[in-house]
This record gives sequence, structure tokens and C-alpha cells, in this order.
Amino acid sequence: MSDSKIVHAEGLGLIFLIGFMGSGKTTLGRKLASRLGYAFMDLDHILEAQAGMTIAEYFTQFGEEAFRKLESEVLKQTRYPVNAVVSTGGGLPCFFDNMQWMKSHGQTIYIKLSPKTLAGRLEKEKDKRPVLREHQGNDLVAFIEGKLAEREAFYNQASIVTDGLNLTAEKVEKILKY
Ligand code: S3P
Repeated sequence: MSDSKIVHAEGLGLIFLIGFMGSGKTTLGRKLASRLGYAFMDLDHILEAQAGMTIAEYFTQFGEEAFRKLESEVLKQTRYPVNAVVSTGGGLPCFFDNMQWMKSHGQTIYIKLSPKTLAGRLEKEKDKRPVLREHQGNDLVAFIEGKLAEREAFYNQASIVTDGLNLTAEKVEKILKY
């Protein structure tokens, strides 16, 4: 039996959505949580509330290293309900033992999309993402290709890897339950 099929007596437990920026973790997470009747939690939003500033401001003020430490603390110190859908920042699984931690506390779903599709989605909303600030056009696709190649070593450890194109909450619910 694969770990993706573990069904807790009380429900499905914690479901962590992981994947690159722009893969739709938050949108899908909200819909999935509402279908399942579970709480929805977005770790980027929790971090921003704790820090009292946006992630872009945090990067500018304290830099990426401090951000990654805080991000890991927020992951591990947040109090979760028994059942919840949790959307995570794109870099979170790739630092410290965060991926292992998520795998030992719930199910992990990697929403996989190609660099081209991601670049198309991200071009317009780059300003919110400090990691992408200096990249545009073809350079953005190349940058995403490189980053994704590094990050997939972590993303692919997810208990479920699913194609993010035309992905619906209904499809994810079926994968989780059957
Ligand atoms: C980041 C992704 C962002 C946010 C931060 C860094 C990354 O989250 O955590 O800007 O390194 O990929 P989203 O994936 O929700 O955009």
C-alpha cells in the first residue's frame, strides 16, 4: 500500500500542496478544502501575518536566508486541525528537512506543470514574487527551467505527483480517496 492511500479514521488528515510558483496551489487548495469540508491554510499568508509584512517586503528587508528560516518555522510551528488542505510556498519543500517533515505529517501532492506554462502564468504577477523579479520573456522560461530542474529532486518525493494542466479539485479528491 503506498503512503498516498493512507486514510485516517477521522478523515484524510493533512494534505500539503506543493509545486512551483504559479502552479495553482492556493486556488486548487481552496476548492479542494471546500469540497472535502476541511480547513484551508496557506503558509505564505500565515507567514505574512506573522511577519506583519508581505513576502516581497520581507525579502527586501531581511533577505532570502532569513525568509527560508522563518518559512520552515511557520511550517513546523503552525497548529493544524486534524484535517486540512495546506498550500505551501514554491521553495518550501527544497530547504532544510521541510519535505521530510511534510511527508511524516500528512500527504504531499506535487502539482506539476511545464516551465513554459508556468512562465505564461507568472509573467503578469512577477512583482509579488521576489525570486523572479529580474527575469522576463525567454529569460523567465530559462530561469524557471533551471530552478525547476533543481527543485524537482524535492517535489518528486511527494506521495502523489499529478499533472497540473486542467487539474480540478474533483480530480484530486478522487486520487486521494481511491
Ligand atoms: C517562492 C514562492 C512563493 C513565496 C516566495 C518564494 C519560491 O510562494 O513563498 O515568494 O521560492 O518559489 P508561491 O509558490 O505561493 O508563489
